[in-house]
Amino acid sequence: MKTLSINPAFVTGLDEIDLQHAFFVDLLARLTPALRNSKSLPRQVRLLQEIQLFAAFHFHSEENLYREHGLSDHQLTHHQKRHGELLGALNHYIFQLEQEKETVESILAVLGDWFAFHAVEEDGYAVTTLFSQQAEAESRNQTNMLSLSLQSFDPDDPFG
Ligand SMILES: [Fe+2]
Ligand SMILES: [Fe+2]
Repeated sequence: MKTLSINPAFVTGLDEIDLQHAFFVDLLARLTPALRNSKSLPRQVRLLQEIQLFAAFHFHSEENLYREHGLSDHQLTHHQKRHGELLGALNHYIFQLEQEKETVESILAVLGDWFAFHAVEEDGYAVTTLFSQQAEAESRNQTNMLSLSLQSFDPDDPFG
């Protein structure tokens, strides 16, 4: 079985997301030669749809993970909007390719930029925000527990 590899710069720190990003990179690498070499437009469209469907799955899965890990509603809404824009753009490009108004090469360039900017920058930012929200919540909990134990402390009976 082929080992997936991903540039360490792409690692967000959330394992499930990193695994899916690695799969996306691998999928692009595997389909790129077929997309470039194929003379059949329907085949190129089918291969791009494979990438599109994986992207749709990944975005949905990522949004669920962000929600489960407690990303703020504001951040989540913003991120979902970005995913919608990216899927809409890919859908548009595939449609343009079908109309022979777009080339496979420019769509591959868009997908590469998309990964480099969205997965590295925007997902990286979302996961960093998530971790800092979790750290803040944990420190608030510790402060609350400390103040609760101080409130219940009786100096006349220090050992309870
Ligand atoms: Fe992602
Ligand atoms: Fe994302």
